[in-house]
Amino acid sequence: MDDAEDVLSRAPLFEALDEEGAKGLRSSINEVRINRGQTLFSEGDDGDRLYVILDGKVKLTRTAPDGRENLLSVLGPGEMFGELSLFDPRPRTASAVAVTDVRMAGLGHDDLRPWLAGRPEVAVHLLKALAQRLRRTNDVMADLVFTDVPGRVAKALLDLADRFGQQREDGLHVHHDLTQEELAQLVGASRETVNKALADFASRNWLRIEAKAVVIHDADRLRRRAR
Ligand code: CMP
Repeated sequence: MDDAEDVLSRAPLFEALDEEGAKGLRSSINEVRINRGQTLFSEGDDGDRLYVILDGKVKLTRTAPDGRENLLSVLGPGEMFGELSLFDPRPRTASAVAVTDVRMAGLGHDDLRPWLAGRPEVAVHLLKALAQRLRRTNDVMADLVFTDVPGRVAKALLDLADRFGQQREDGLHVHHDLTQEELAQLVGASRETVNKALADFASRNWLRIEAKAVVIHDADRLRRRAR
């Protein structure tokens, strides 16, 4: 099994299937590649496919009428997006833009529908993924109301660390691949305020700032600040 198949078999869609089922579903998949900075689809487009990331990172964004951007999420290998317009056939709720070069598995909604009806376990796993997203969205909304910007920055870094972190001798390396502007869009604050929070964490030696990455030295202190 190569890396891509391995990533795919852990995605919510495939987790539920036995070998034979997975093989059947896999035959409907086509591979899609886009380069860093390229837009896969835009908010408001008609949507007929969902995607599972095999390699790289994708950001999901919404743009306000005045042009400001809100970054809903950054997704990496094994994570899925583009399924809302499958369950609720209306335009895309967000834009999907490549943060790095990305390789994805694309699956047409029409190809997936028979699986939802014929294999309820596939539907249950997709519902679980949706439920997890709703939980996360509720947490993010509560944080916007109840938590200050440094707390939100700490939380966002810990969330990115959970998904993209690699423990090395000198700390937990988190290559989030986001610019400081994008990090600010993710926590819903200005770049200046987010930079100030990061500089403060660095001065306390909780982390080290690198280009599009941080190295976390003291996750416990960061966790306490995130509360
Ligand atoms: P769809 O609306 O088809 O296209 C945009 C996709 O972004 C959407 O499906 C979801 O897969 C994803 N998405 C929308 N809102 C969020 C969110 N709050 N958190 C994470 N992903 C989201």
